Amino acid sequence: MRVAEISSLSKHINEHVQIRGWLRRRRSSGKIQFLFLRDGSGFIQGIVEKSSVPESVFQVAASLKMESSVVVSGLVKAEERAPGGVELFVEDLQIIQIPEKDFPINKPDHSIDFLMDNRHLWLRTQRQTHVLKIRHEIIRAVREFYNDRGFVLIDTPIFTGSIGESAGNTFEIDYFDYGKAYLAQTGQLYLEAAAMALGKVYNLGPTFRAEKSKTRRHLIEFWMNEAEVAYYGHDDNIKLQEELVTYVVKSTLERAGEDLKSIGRDTSKLEKIETPFPRITYDEAVRLLQKKGFEINWGDDIGGDEETAIANEFDKPIVVERYPRMMKAFYMQPDPERPEVVLCDDMLAPEGYGEIIGASERIYDRDLLIERINEYGLDVSSYDWYLDLRDYGTVPHSGFGMGIERIVAWIAGLEHIREAIPFARTLYRIHP
Ligand code: 4AD
Ligand code: MG
Repeated sequence: MRVAEISSLSKHINEHVQIRGWLRRRRSSGKIQFLFLRDGSGFIQGIVEKSSVPESVFQVAASLKMESSVVVSGLVKAEERAPGGVELFVEDLQIIQIPEKDFPINKPDHSIDFLMDNRHLWLRTQRQTHVLKIRHEIIRAVREFYNDRGFVLIDTPIFTGSIGESAGNTFEIDYFDYGKAYLAQTGQLYLEAAAMALGKVYNLGPTFRAEKSKTRRHLIEFWMNEAEVAYYGHDDNIKLQEELVTYVVKSTLERAGEDLKSIGRDTSKLEKIETPFPRITYDEAVRLLQKKGFEINWGDDIGGDEETAIANEFDKPIVVERYPRMMKAFYMQPDPERPEVVLCDDMLAPEGYGEIIGASERIYDRDLLIERINEYGLDVSSYDWYLDLRDYGTVPHSGFGMGIERIVAWIAGLEHIREAIPFARTLYRIHP
């Protein structure tokens, strides 16, 4: 008999197929067992009629518990009202395992701590499989965006000797005879080297921040996509970010539209995302916040609540540019017209999802860069190779980093970032 995936069954109507998966739920009406089955590709209702299968098959169906692993054979029938438009009339059942214990996730109101403790099992539930597929399609779109535009993928290292962002939140490790090494907060410095070799480059990988933040937007380990382009200025950089985000949203709507709808996402809000995005300066953002009653002065950080208040003014992502130099990282190029601000931007997602992108033009003058490294209390000797880039054919260049889980949380409409990654690492969680 033909083995088929549930997601392909609409192509096998009136055929006999075998599906290999698990039982999600069972319901019985005495003469009929309704088996809600899944195989990773999708979900389907299997129908076992007492009158049309051998008694032994009916008994086996009646004994199945949640998450039993089963191979099910049957006839595919069109059924308009069923999800996916098909049902399976079961003819035979082969049991791989009926669990001895009850599956722990079996009601709608488990606490989030319980679900996270059981994340390895929680992944099997319908909503979580949709979220994981949405993440998959988002990452596919990110890669496609760059590949279609002639960017070269550069895999940047996770162990590094040069702090990439700031000294405050690094994970330190002993690295043989070398002494201290760090887990990458960013791959940016390495992408800058690669951009001088290849022009347009990107990466996609895990990054680490020892941040004591417990917000719904922060992870300790998160995935970042970064891009770096030689000869790009501040405006080119913003344009690329807008195009990337628009592309990712459109592609995800196309490829994961059903998953988004299944988890209740209002996709009409995503359909409005088009370039260009609104832009305001940091100065304007501060004035806007003051008008809204926030106690904020020029030079203060824009925190999570402030980000949400700004973003709520717009129905597209908003670009906030030209922050005060002292609030931002050491490598950012000063605005030639106003050296107290830098040529940077943060992109804030709509609907309160906060910063999805951090970006800037980079300092390409060696002396200024050394001055900044010292000023930020970093060890100049660990940047010898990074400074070399300013000695041999240095050029203006720009780039950015986009937090994958932030963009997943926004596009999927998740309440908390912990659901946006298969196994979240947060301040209080490294298990499972
Ligand atoms: O703004 P960040 O810190 O920028 C950089 O690391 C630059 N070196 C990137 C570059 O220019 N190449 O981080 C970039 C993005 C943020 O906008 C946010 O989306 C995400 O990474 N991010 C986090 N996501 C989840 N948890 C955290 N703790 C995050 N910290 C940053
Ligand atoms: Mg940032």
